[in-house]
This record gives sequence, C-alpha cells and structure tokens, in this order.
Amino acid sequence: ELVGLMMKASSQPMPFSHNILPRVLSFYHHWKKIYGATFLVWFGPTVRVTISDPDLIREIFTTKSEFYEKNESPPLVKQLEGDGLLSLKGEKWAHHRRIISPTFHMENLKLLIPIMATSVVEMLEKWKAMAEKGEVEIEVSECFQTLTEDVITRTAFGSSYEDGKAVFRLQAQQMVLAADAFQKVFIPGYRFLPTRRNINCWKLEKEMKKSLVKLIDRRKENACGKEEKKGAKDLLGIMIGASNTTSNVSVTVDDIVEECKTFFFAGKHTTSNLLTWTTILLAMHPEWQVRAREELLSVCGARDVPTKDDLAKLKTLTMVVNESLRLYPPTIATIRRAKADVELGEYKIPCGTELLIPIVAVHHDQATWGSDASEFNPGRFSNGVSRAAQHPFAFIPFGLGVRTCIGQNLAILQTKLALAIMLRGFSFRLAPSYRHAPTVLMLLYPQYGAPILFQRVSTT
Ligand code: HEM
Repeated sequence: ELVGLMMKASSQPMPFSHNILPRVLSFYHHWKKIYGATFLVWFGPTVRVTISDPDLIREIFTTKSEFYEKNESPPLVKQLEGDGLLSLKGEKWAHHRRIISPTFHMENLKLLIPIMATSVVEMLEKWKAMAEKGEVEIEVSECFQTLTEDVITRTAFGSSYEDGKAVFRLQAQQMVLAADAFQKVFIPGYRFLPTRRNINCWKLEKEMKKSLVKLIDRRKENACGKEEKKGAKDLLGIMIGASNTTSNVSVTVDDIVEECKTFFFAGKHTTSNLLTWTTILLAMHPEWQVRAREELLSVCGARDVPTKDDLAKLKTLTMVVNESLRLYPPTIATIRRAKADVELGEYKIPCGTELLIPIVAVHHDQATWGSDASEFNPGRFSNGVSRAAQHPFAFIPFGLGVRTCIGQNLAILQTKLALAIMLRGFSFRLAPSYRHAPTVLMLLYPQYGAPILFQRVSTT
C-alpha cells in the first residue's frame, strides 16, 4: 500500500498552497481517514504506533509520563546531537535539566536582548546596503542560520564567545558529512568502514572534543581569576559552576562537552527554520505584514530595538509566529517508548513499544482546528494559545510535559526580536523564483530555499 501511494503521490505535481505537508505526512492523513487516529506503521523493521488524538497525547506526556521514555536516536543523529539533555534519561537528565534551566529563564534571557539585537542589526545593515538602490533578493534561510548560530553561541558560551564560535564551525563541517551519510544510513555497518567520509568525521570529532576541552579549561582559569564578568548566565559558565559543586550526580568535563554539542544542534536550525517560515508567510500575506508593522510602530514609537516589555505587547506578531509554528513546526514529530506494559486510552501498549507523535499532523487536523486547518489564519490565536483549537493539547511545537523544549523562550524571543527589527526596516514579498515545497531533512525545510525580495521602508 505504501509503495502504491508513494508512486501515486510522486506522479502528482505539488499545488501552491499552505497545506502541502511533507509527502510521508500526507500519507498520514490518508491513513487516518481509513484507520482512525491511532494506527501502526512499519519503518523498516521497526513498528511504531502513531498517535494523534490529543487526549492520548496528554496521557503520554503528562498524566502517565512516568511510563514512557525517549527513544534512542540513530547513531548518525546521536553523533550530532551529543549525549546531552536531548537524549539523557533518568537521574542524570533531571540533574542537568535543573542546572541548565536558569540559563533559559526569561529574567536571564532579557539580559541577552541587546546582544541578540546587535546580531540582528548587523545582519540587517548588510541588507540595507544591498537595498540602497531598490528592491533586492535575499535568500533568507542562510542568513537566519548565521544569525541563530550567533545567538546560540553567545547564549551557550558567553564570555568565551569567539572560541565557542570556532568549535561550532567544526560541528557545522561535521553536519555536512553527516547529511551526506544519511543517504547511506540503511547500509548496516557502513559508518564503521574507513571510507574517506568516515575518516574525516572521526578526525573532526576528535578535533572538536580537543577544542572544547581546551575552551572549558581556559574558562575555568578565567572564572578563578578576574576576567569573568557578572551578567547573564550562560550554559558553559553554569555547567562549569555545577562541576565544581559536590552532588550525588557529578558533572564531568565530558558532560559539558556533550551539552555544548546538544545546544548547538538543538538551537540553531530549529529557530532559523521558524524565522524562515514566518518570513515566507508574511511575504505571502502582505495584509498581516502591514498589520504587524503598524502595531510595532504604535508600541515601540521611536525605539528601533524593542524592549522585553514591547515584545510582550506585540500581539499580532505573536499570533503570526504561533500560526507559523502550527503550519510549519520545525520539529515535525517526536517518539516515546513504553517502559512497561501500559494502558493508553482503550489500548494496551506492551513494554518496549515505540509511539510516534506526528506534531505536524496534529497541527493540521481538521477535527481540532476546523475546516480551515490548512490555511494561514493567525486570527485563530487572538484569544491565546489555549483557546486557538478545540483541544488544549493540539498545539505542541515545543513538545509537552517534563521534557518540553528548554530553549523555547529563547527561540520565541529571538524570532520576535528579529522579525520586529526587520519589519521596521523593510517590506518584503516572495521572489518569483520561490517554490513552495516543505520538505523534511530531520526538520521541516523549504526545499528550494527562501528567496525573498526586500525593499526599505521609511518609518519616520
Ligand atoms: C526539546 C522543538 C528551539 C533546546 C525540544 C522538543 C521539541 C523542540 C519538540 C521536545 C522533543 C521531545 O519531546 O522529544 C523546538 C523548536 C524550536 C526549538 C520548534 C524553535 C523554534 C530550541 C532552542 C534550544 C533548544 C533555541 C536551545 C538553545 C532543546 C533541548 C531539548 C529540546 C536541550 C531537550 C529538553 C529535554 O529533554 O530536557 N525542542 N526547539 N530548542 N530543545 Fe528545542
């Protein structure tokens, strides 16, 4: 059935509309029609139960979460994401989460707004120079990746920013090699063969670990000396501080290295995707762009860079960002494994079963979002997130429960900040070369990039 459906889908041209989900997920809708909201799918030799009923999602992530754990990532993903918060389990995960959480509290992030704004303004100054003589085409997805890399480096490494950036460049090279390897991922044992790609990968891995250990040692020395400044708490500082304190669960240098890898991986592409999709949607819907800009000007007045309080008042922008997260959630799915035999709604789930929660399909479900579920309509969020759908667990771009995204405040803050500064300086529309084709490569990407035409606007 799967092969038949794939052949049928691949022979059909993709229409230009918002309801194009990645192909595999469009199969999901088809299967849901036939089998209902809960059904089995085989991924090679692995069978997964697909769950999109918000009541069952609530059980898995909140009321019965103790019966489930995160599944093991495939080796290639693990290599990139590191052995940090994303994949840790049990007491070690809880300990790291407690230590790292304060870095991402709003009070701490607020201190980072001027630094984030510097990165945004630097990017936009370049665009302004390019748009000096009129409209200019910019491929925004690449620019936003550089921007989010900048921001996550500052958040994670703080005073060791430059060294951190160099380490992250190594990880970016590693990602290129991993993307190449993804095509061979199904050849058993391939990653152990001494191919040129694998040798390069091993070298990079070693080099990165060496650089990170050096960076940590240097930061430790500075912390003992006078160079360490008071200010926002960054991930590296906070982990080093924890490694110096005695506790039942110790934090080693290896742990810090792994967390640094995790945060680069988890923080960069997710947020740049959100920025990219929101820009595309605003370019497609000029009426919302105008509305968001008018609101921005009335809230911020002459302030070029909004404050934290200004950002909280930008209701239209918040609605647009939420609608973008709903239609194009950067993380399209998550997986849980039953740790014991457990009852889930009317089902008996045997220990070891993998449950797939297709976030993107939950967000497009007409049963909870109404008949316009596939349309861009930020107005549905006008009374807040909890009232937007017919079920409070139908909007889950950052996951749910204890393992919800630790970086969501940072992601939303930097997205709103960047969009606000951008809306003030530019009006924008899709370039004629833009082709709408959301595709999945771990996250949800615009397959052919995001070429946008920018024109300076005067707001004085
Ligand atoms: C977890 C999405 C930005 C760090 C998650 C999860 C989702 C998610 C869905 C839960 C995964 C699961 O339950 O299996 C997103 C999206 C983002 C974003 C859509 C941006 C739009 C960030 C940023 C950071 C970050 C900026 C770090 C700076 C993490 C970490 C976890 C996580 C460390 C694991 C938390 C834990 O298990 O304790 N994210 N994320 N994310 N995210 Fe994000």
